[in-house]
Amino acid sequence: MTTFLKACVIGDPIAHSRSPLIHGYWLRTLGIAGAYERAHVKAEDFAAFVRAMPEQGYAGANVTVPHKERALALCDEPSARARAIGAANTLWFEDGTLRADNTDGLGFLAHLDATHPGWRAVADHAVILGAGGAARGILHAILSRGVETITVANRNLERAECLARDMGEGSSSRIVARAWRDLPEAVRGAGLLVNATSLGMARQPPLDCPLDGLRDDAVVDDIVYAPLETELLRRARHRGLRVVDGLGMLLHQAAPGFERWFGVRPEVTPELRALIVADLEKPA
Ligand SMILES: NC(=O)c1ccc[n+]([C@@H]2O[C@H](COP(=O)([O-])OP(=O)(O)OC[C@H]3O[C@@H](n4cnc5c(N)ncnc54)[C@H](OP(=O)(O)O)[C@@H]3O)[C@@H](O)[C@H]2O)c1
Repeated sequence: MTTFLKACVIGDPIAHSRSPLIHGYWLRTLGIAGAYERAHVKAEDFAAFVRAMPEQGYAGANVTVPHKERALALCDEPSARARAIGAANTLWFEDGTLRADNTDGLGFLAHLDATHPGWRAVADHAVILGAGGAARGILHAILSRGVETITVANRNLERAECLARDMGEGSSSRIVARAWRDLPEAVRGAGLLVNATSLGMARQPPLDCPLDGLRDDAVVDDIVYAPLETELLRRARHRGLRVVDGLGMLLHQAAPGFERWFGVRPEVTPELRALIVADLEKPA
């Protein structure tokens, strides 16, 4: 008898999530009997929903805004990575034990490595804009590559300082928190610039970050993927810099969860990317 496996993405709101499209593509192309659903769950119902997942037939779930911190707290055995980042985006059950990981940083690095394999050689100094959930995952990932100096610039300076303190402990990298107004100085000489704020997203204010001070061979990575080419990436391309869009991160961060729930490591293919691009380009 073939087992029918189920997973879902839990969030509030959730209608906008592209995860069902991504996992649905993999289920279909790999010929796996399973389903990946959207679960619209309010904060007050989150714990009960997760605890009831095995009896509802779910092997696990992705977790998105606003439940990522709660997911970590609820979990019996989080990965060291999820603990260090302070949030979880992937849950699964193993012999009744709820486990969790955070795959945002993995997705970020997989896409950056695939797009510009030589990025590390020019990035002794990296700058991360933002100090929210995504920035935490990205800082953790960049630290794993031994980048010497990482600057975190955020509108709320205290939040950047807190992040630098939390993740700097025991690290051989130097993490420097900078105020938003110091951006022109903060990006000087950097070889990697990452936008991990929500600025530049459709219906959000634009991101006004100076690019003049970056190295001429720098890589600019914007994790915002709607629109696919943000104003930041357009300006970076115009300056002759190398660019990375946010869609690849979204696709790559999904793969480890799929493997946990459905037992096969899926591939991020050009066909999958084209499917999501077509969805992003649909009129709202
Ligand atoms: N490509 C992917 O796979 C992927 C994965 C995760 C997230 N994302 C995208 O990454 C972005 C951040 O997500 P998140 O989960 O980290 O959100 P979050 O935890 O809410 O953090 C938002 C960040 O944006 C900053 N920000 C918001 N409005 C701003 C403004 N007007 N001026 C300056 N800074 C502003 C915040 O600064 P303050 O601290 O000062 O408020 C904070 O650093 C979103 O656009 C999300 O869609 C993409």
